[in-house]
Amino acid sequence: MELISPMVIIILGCLALFLLLQRKNLRRPPCIKGWIPWIGVGLEFGKAPLEFIEKARIKYGPIFTVFAMGNRMTFVTEEEGINVFLKSKKVDFEQAVQNLVYRTASIPKNVFLALHEKLYIMLKGKMGTVNLHQFAGQLTEELHEQLESLGTHGTMDLNNLVRHLLYPVTVNMLFNKSLFPTNKKKIKEFHQHFQAYDEDFEYGSQLPESLLRNWSKSKKWLLELLEKNIPNIKACTSAKDNSMALLQATVDIVETVASKENSPSYGLLLLWASLSNVIPVAFWTLAYVLSHPDVYRAIMEGISSVFGTAGKRKIKVSEDDLEKLLLIKWCVLETIRLRAPGVITRKVVEPVEILNYIIPSGDLLMLSPFWLHRNPKYFPEPELFKPERWKKANLEKHCFLDCFMAFGGGKFRCPGRWFALLEIQMCIILMLYKYDCSLLDPLPKQSSLHLVGVPQPEGQCRIEYKQRI
Ligand code: HEM
Repeated sequence: MELISPMVIIILGCLALFLLLQRKNLRRPPCIKGWIPWIGVGLEFGKAPLEFIEKARIKYGPIFTVFAMGNRMTFVTEEEGINVFLKSKKVDFEQAVQNLVYRTASIPKNVFLALHEKLYIMLKGKMGTVNLHQFAGQLTEELHEQLESLGTHGTMDLNNLVRHLLYPVTVNMLFNKSLFPTNKKKIKEFHQHFQAYDEDFEYGSQLPESLLRNWSKSKKWLLELLEKNIPNIKACTSAKDNSMALLQATVDIVETVASKENSPSYGLLLLWASLSNVIPVAFWTLAYVLSHPDVYRAIMEGISSVFGTAGKRKIKVSEDDLEKLLLIKWCVLETIRLRAPGVITRKVVEPVEILNYIIPSGDLLMLSPFWLHRNPKYFPEPELFKPERWKKANLEKHCFLDCFMAFGGGKFRCPGRWFALLEIQMCIILMLYKYDCSLLDPLPKQSSLHLVGVPQPEGQCRIEYKQRI
């Protein structure tokens, strides 16, 4: 009897613990975890992550967890989950991205946490709506300079054309004129290395660098370019020819709070953030406009009514002109709605309740702007390119449509969003004013390979352009 009692107590204790854990698990969302330890459903998920998310939503409902590569990712797809994602103090942006920042730009966790909020406030201020008027003039000039080099006519891959225009324009605007290479060979190298870095950014954020030799080579090349140029950027005290001097302000903060060795890494992050989404959005906007003849015609009528008959003149575009060309802004926003980033993420730092489920701390809470924008409850006829749906948005007050989440949300929403919209609108206006354009290929499909950022086109799409008289 004396021997049995402790045994019974242990068994009962284990049973109670088991039931408790079961109960706890019962209150967790359904989990898709596969059978391979640690890898979970990583292989299946990695093949086409965007499609995986939507299939899981249809099968498991509005909230579910995906276990892959040692990570628990809990996806929320409807109001209650979205509200928690955007507003709860139990989820955290910095904790969610610090690992990605370390792997992709070699910024240690302590440095990132010490600097993040200060840098964010500076970026938000410099690129906020109040300061936007400063860029219109320089943006027009920079775009004209790049358009000159396209010549009088030609045929090009549209993606290359957009890169050719916007790599130098963005770098000259936000960093410093001296950063972007000027000789042909170096420009080609910049294109190759930035593209390689951008293409495998997501793998770089998860795998050791030693497994990604080409990516690592391009990362080093870009870091060296920044390192070489930072002394020039610091020396440039006048803001006249460089209204933003974003990198200069970044370097100032980094060197004051951390150390100067960290400056190229921050430059690299900023370079990636400023180009990686703007390029595909400009690509998709031109592609959508040119493949919708009614929209293209209406845009050209608008352009002619503001600037006179389209031609090769070097027109100046002001913010006031943009207000008169609302259809172009709607087209950019409608494009971003349809080609929004696959996911944005937060780390659960304290257990949080959503739809009667408890999400444990340590989970990554995930929201997919791409799929949210395809929910007919929020965007009727979601697959259609309908710029006129933006008529309802209060753009004058800088508000987007409800549930439009392409720039993220909450405290750390994209600080570059107004600059991005301005740059893309200007690019479209000047390109269409100067050139008669047509697509030689159908609108390509979007790649479903990556989740971070705006999806890239799959396959080629050529554009033919002829200078107007
Ligand atoms: C259409 C173009 C763009 C899109 C779709 C976009 C989208 C996003 C998204 C989804 C986030 C994450 C926000 C969150 O998790 O809540 C983000 C963050 C960020 N974006 Fe953008 N972005 C664009 C253009 C730009 C540009 C031109 C810049 C210029 C520098 C920029 C700078 C940043 C930075 C620095 C962050 C990180 C903010 C932080 O650390 O708190 N973005 N962007």
